[in-house]
Amino acid sequence: MSARNWQRFRCISGGDKPLPYGLNSDLRGSRMETNQYVHSENKGLTMPDDAKRPLIQARGLSKSYRLGASEVVGLNNIDLHLSAGELVVLKGNSGSGKSTLLALLAGLDQPTAGDLIVADQNLKKATPRQLTQYRREIVGVVFQSFNLLPTLTVLENVSLPALLAGHRHPEVKAKALQLLASLDLTPRLHHLPAQLSGGEMQRTAIARALINDPAIILADEPTGNLDSHNGRAVIELLGSLNRRLGTTVIIATHSNLADPIATTSIYLTDGAITAWS
Ligand SMILES: Nc1ncnc2c1ncn2[C@@H]1O[C@H](COP(=O)(O)OP(=O)(O)OP(=O)(O)O)[C@@H](O)[C@H]1O
Ligand SMILES: [Mg+2]
Repeated sequence: MSARNWQRFRCISGGDKPLPYGLNSDLRGSRMETNQYVHSENKGLTMPDDAKRPLIQARGLSKSYRLGASEVVGLNNIDLHLSAGELVVLKGNSGSGKSTLLALLAGLDQPTAGDLIVADQNLKKATPRQLTQYRREIVGVVFQSFNLLPTLTVLENVSLPALLAGHRHPEVKAKALQLLASLDLTPRLHHLPAQLSGGEMQRTAIARALINDPAIILADEPTGNLDSHNGRAVIELLGSLNRRLGTTVIIATHSNLADPIATTSIYLTDGAITAWS
């Protein structure tokens, strides 16, 4: 199976509307072709046979946490079928399971029951090595709390996932500089996270999530700490990546900013899906 199938799977598409922050389609020219390598059979991951096959499939997915003698339900028996190229808005009250679901999709946590298959990879059966590779290359995660490393500069934070994935330093630096310029962060390259505003931290976290050209972006409250201008710009950026590059985007949020561009809206109540549109 060739790497081309994977590219087909990602539904890369064009468009003529400029991307926010001046992000333009030239970024595609600077791709390090990460996924082409990662998804090769040589590295142990399988290719999708059918471009129409769901990118994300969950069956009976459950996650509970044991706290002493009691059990807290995070997710309760959910089924999901999401295609490549979707932009999903995940909503629900605080404690309804949004972050729990994103953590499972990110391969950061394991379900208590059920199956989760993403890009033909059964995350429940994946080896630690495959999971590490999956987290580095397939998904880009924008954490609610940014999770920037405090002792690394903006440029270093953004470069790190690509360096860990084994890409060459000059190539990584060029890509990081381009991404950061597109996000209006060139004047902040050598700042530490503590020297940034909330919006700058958020944009740095987004650049870091994009450095390895993930097929899937998982964004947990990406606008939660931003003013309305920056919040709108972040949603516009995620929407543009989805439209222009076919990146699948899943946004957990309490805000309505992404509603107009969502292809699917999922509502969680007490860990279960109670509405889907
Ligand atoms: N590590 C954990 N240990 C125990 N319980 C947990 C843990 N993580 C989450 N939970 C519980 O699982 C449930 C779902 O939490 P989750 O963080 O997924 O909610 P959420 O929908 O993301 O909420 P919010 O909108 O506040 O971010 C909550 O009841 C929460 O207390
Ligand atoms: Mg949450």
